[in-house]
Amino acid sequence: MPSTDAWWRDAVIYQIYPRSFADGNGDGMGDLPGITARLPRLRELGIDAVWLSPFYVSPQHDAGYDVADYRDVDPRFGSLGDADKLIATAHDLGLKLIVDLVPNHTSSEHAWFKAALAAGPGSPERERYIFRDEPPNNWKSVFGGPAWQQVDDGQWYLHLFDVSQPDLNWDHPEVRAEFLDILRFWLDRGVDGFRVDVAHGLVKDAQLTDWTAPSVVLGGLEPAGPPPPMWDQEGVHEIYRQWRAVLDGYSPARIMVAEAWVQPEERLARYVRPDEMHQAFNFPYLEAPWKAGELREVIDSSLAATGSVGATTTWVLSNHDVVRHASRLGFPAGTGRKPGIGIGDPQPDTGLGLRRARAATLLMLGLPGSAYLYQGEELGLPEHTTLADEFRQDPAWERSGHAERGRDGCRVPIPWEADAPSYGFGPGDDSWLPQPTSWAEYALDRQVDVPGSTYELYRSALATRREHHLGGGSLIWSSTEGDVLAFRNGGILVLTNFGQEPVALPSDARVLLSSEPLGDDGRVPADVTVWAAV
Ligand code: NOJ
Repeated sequence: MPSTDAWWRDAVIYQIYPRSFADGNGDGMGDLPGITARLPRLRELGIDAVWLSPFYVSPQHDAGYDVADYRDVDPRFGSLGDADKLIATAHDLGLKLIVDLVPNHTSSEHAWFKAALAAGPGSPERERYIFRDEPPNNWKSVFGGPAWQQVDDGQWYLHLFDVSQPDLNWDHPEVRAEFLDILRFWLDRGVDGFRVDVAHGLVKDAQLTDWTAPSVVLGGLEPAGPPPPMWDQEGVHEIYRQWRAVLDGYSPARIMVAEAWVQPEERLARYVRPDEMHQAFNFPYLEAPWKAGELREVIDSSLAATGSVGATTTWVLSNHDVVRHASRLGFPAGTGRKPGIGIGDPQPDTGLGLRRARAATLLMLGLPGSAYLYQGEELGLPEHTTLADEFRQDPAWERSGHAERGRDGCRVPIPWEADAPSYGFGPGDDSWLPQPTSWAEYALDRQVDVPGSTYELYRSALATRREHHLGGGSLIWSSTEGDVLAFRNGGILVLTNFGQEPVALPSDARVLLSSEPLGDDGRVPADVTVWAAV
């Protein structure tokens, strides 16, 4: 349970991807009743809060990030009554609950976009989107292909993502008013905050100037330099100040977390100034290779940047847009992050990946600040790296002309029971993406109370983190040599060995947790993190 009113500052927040968490009605698609029924398991895991990816009415061309009605639940996921039950159950369990807000674009099925198409060129309805008589620039969609789409009457509209996700015009007062109202709608239903999708994208450079560098959101951070004309424009901050004023009218505190692929870290920190958002995802941390020096640098720059504006840092290793870290880390350190892996691609070393993933998680949970977990990582779940292409649903797969396999591999329904149909995801065999046959061994029921299981490692780490207030602590680097990262957070030494040779702990160290067994001589083997009382 969060310790203070400023609960987000050290919270461990667990991301639920509703399609793939738990299927209550057996249609192969996860749903809100399925989530509600499983929430007690998350309480047992020891998290503080849950973030739910979108469950709103949507044609699902981008798995719900294409919203047709922001104030209702898609029937695939349940009803508004189910959302109310979920919120109430979370609160009864002492969990906070944040929901996703998708303000950069609507679905092309949204009433506003349908009205814009019907009303025609020059109409006030078109003003809520970004329509032009000709494509005014060369922008590309993040998912591949051009970012401008022509409609029947000849005009073109901007879609930075899929063609079914027209960008809103944030200069329009009705757009601004609408989202203030949507915020209040969900706040009044009791949610504890919002994860803001594409938070750096709402405002575009007024001239809509050409941009020649590749658009790399979701596939790597923007190169340093002036922000591209579609991202990180100054005008976004005024929007978040307005939203913050709304949130501040509620008690207990409600929060916003920015999904903003922005660098350097100083630019990202501007989203978490005291009158803006509370948190921003730390993608530079997620992107850092498994190397002591580079991780140390990104930890330092993250802490310095957020510290300079009085915010705490977040840490994250996996989410629904990136290859799961148990697989990512199974490639040689420094391998570029790929947007998807499939049959015929180089495959990760599963054993090494899991070993490093466990070490990476223990390192992350030892850091001061807030941490985000992605459903299934507590099971050590790898990416589905051999999903047959015929099952792929990520729009990036088609839009990139099959150059990018996309994000389906991290979105496969998770296993709960080894011997049940769909590994307990739902009552039947159906799951909207097929689960690999190797997943029985990762099922929750094979790991609960099993010493050394990844689930028990997470549970112990979360309990120890809470007991020693690591989230609210501070970091002091210990002097180390070579491929070792070591710091003190209060009375706890956190040490990760990135090298090949085992390393010794200080003689007075009392080991509390380690991501793998230590050597007989008490030394820390390669790719292992230790927490020790000192
Ligand atoms: C970021 C979301 O995390 C991703 O899943 C989505 O495709 C894009 N934003 C567009 O909404």
